[in-house]
Amino acid sequence: MSQTLKAVLVGLTATVALACTTPRALAQDAAGPSAASTETPSEPFSTGKVEAGATKSAVCSSCHGPNGNSTNPEWPRLAGQSAVYVAQQLRLFSSGIRNNPIMKPLAGTLKDQDISDIAVYYEAQTPSGLEADPSYWQAGEALYLRGDEAKEVPACVACHGPVGRGNLTGGYPALRAQQSVYVIKQLNDYASGARYTGPDVLKVNPNAAMMLTIAKRLSAEQIRDVASYVQGMR
Ligand code: HEC
Ligand code: HEC
Repeated sequence: MSQTLKAVLVGLTATVALACTTPRALAQDAAGPSAASTETPSEPFSTGKVEAGATKSAVCSSCHGPNGNSTNPEWPRLAGQSAVYVAQQLRLFSSGIRNNPIMKPLAGTLKDQDISDIAVYYEAQTPSGLEADPSYWQAGEALYLRGDEAKEVPACVACHGPVGRGNLTGGYPALRAQQSVYVIKQLNDYASGARYTGPDVLKVNPNAAMMLTIAKRLSAEQIRDVASYVQGMR
């Protein structure tokens, strides 16, 4: 095993251990200094209400689908997504650090309590959706489970979990049932740097460092294959 890969995995173990012991502190970090409001952001688990989130997400369901199960391949599925991750991404859209003209104004209308409610609501939903493409998923599974040592790509399973559930409290996103078209776009956006803008990305969102590094090492075929595999995961 190469030194770089070892370093990634050691770092990972430490992060996961930390996530398990201090979810509250991590959630606070996740909100970061660029949060939509200047007040200390709420922690989704303690203040979020699923029922309130169901009502408040009505406007979101026109794109993200009923219960967060979007049917448009470019609009990500949010059902079962980590609440910590959803809350963090909404703040990143709102501040413009995650670069997206559709989500920026929408996220900007949400108050801290709305973000908490919506985040816990989506985490509580069950993802459903498309199957994997039969031509690609086996190569994708191999990459997901074992990585690509020659290219120093760590196995996706280490962080995104055996069934793609992610690491909920650490804010590592769930990938299961995610639209493959959306997954391909995100991996390309990490690789090109288009997903986030500005000099503060890693200060505000240290989690971004992992994928900014990993995505650059993937070929177009590997991205296609692994995207197909995760789309079929449940
Ligand atoms: C007009 C369509 C549209 C509406 C309405 C919409 N979104 Fe989105 N949303 C998108 C698109 C497109 C993306 C993917 C952006 C990208 O490619 O980076 C996205 C991405 C997201 C993400 C990031 C998902 C991930 O896996 O990283 C979250 C979280 C999100 N939206 C939450 C919401 C919430 C909450 C609402 C309602 C307040 C909402 N969206 C309303 C289109 C929409
Ligand atoms: C060391 C941990 C780690 C490994 C290994 C890892 N990821 Fe990630 N991944 C993350 C984290 C953390 C994020 C959230 C980053 C952010 O905040 O932008 C993420 C985000 C993503 C996203 C964006 C999800 C969304 O909803 O927008 C995709 C797609 C993804 N990873 C795919 C992969 C694939 C494919 C592999 C294997 C080749 C992989 N990841 C390996 C930690 C990891």
